[in-house]
Amino acid sequence: MTARKIIIDTDPGQDDAVAILLALASPEAVDLLGITCVAGNVPLSLTSKNARIICELAGKPEVPVFAGCERPLGRELVTAEHVHGRTGLDGPDLPDPTMPLADGHAVDFIIDTLRSNPAGTVTLCPIGPLTNIATAFRKAPDIAEKVQEIVLMGGAYFEVGNVTPTAEFNIYVDPEAADVVFRSGVPIVVMPLDVTHKVLVTRDRNDRIRDLGTPVGLAVAQMTDFFERFDREKYGSDGAPLHDPCVIAYLIRPKLFSGRHVNVEIETGSELTMGMTVADWWQVTDRPANATFMGHVDAPGFFDLLTERLARL
Ligand code: RIB
Ligand code: CA
Repeated sequence: MTARKIIIDTDPGQDDAVAILLALASPEAVDLLGITCVAGNVPLSLTSKNARIICELAGKPEVPVFAGCERPLGRELVTAEHVHGRTGLDGPDLPDPTMPLADGHAVDFIIDTLRSNPAGTVTLCPIGPLTNIATAFRKAPDIAEKVQEIVLMGGAYFEVGNVTPTAEFNIYVDPEAADVVFRSGVPIVVMPLDVTHKVLVTRDRNDRIRDLGTPVGLAVAQMTDFFERFDREKYGSDGAPLHDPCVIAYLIRPKLFSGRHVNVEIETGSELTMGMTVADWWQVTDRPANATFMGHVDAPGFFDLLTERLARL
């Protein structure tokens, strides 16, 4: 299998951090061309700092990290310090980055990368609000047809919302951007809360990661120890849901997941349901299918993969 060329678009966030680590630990499957940061869990100044902290934790300071959009297309930024802590990476005590930000805006990196690679060979992996991706598509409409696939974490259907009764955070923060992406015609794979709430870092799973006995293993265990508070209190969950690593695990081992190719549209009108991913799961409309919406995950297989790969770093 040749390594798949990808860009991770991210708002670290502890679960984003684990996704980045999983990608960096899997070079035979994933060729990480660059990381583009967006405002989301915490402001852009912190997401673009945290991405570099994680690259250095993994011993990969050569990965280019770009700062992108600092606010949604048309709404005020909503952040999630109550989940991720003030820094966005609360839990471990990691040193500030020494690697600089890459020159240029994240949106231009996305555009230039898609224009300079053969069509259909670069996958976009957004794991935060979709502001950078939508801005790139608006600034350079020619690039949409060059994207191999978008594999994103966002949305919810049977699991309903985690930030409002109907909306998942990444989509809710920038529903206008999500609407641009879901209407783009690019093949999309969606990792919604319907699967990410099934990959919970239970005590046993976290102990397996901590017991790797490496700086990466300890840092990840400390991140999820911090990150799980919100879900334990709100849902009574038995651990933190590892939302974003599902995107990377899909690239490495797609058979861990299953879902349906259905129509998904984004609520952008009603404040009551703003940011809802309206998935036509039962295909009761004639709206054309535009996304593979995942509904099932092999959670033990996911954690076996994650733990085995983290041990490489
Ligand atoms: O709703 C979960 C998503 O929102 C994850 O990507 C998490 O990092 C936050 O960005
Ligand atoms: Ca995220």
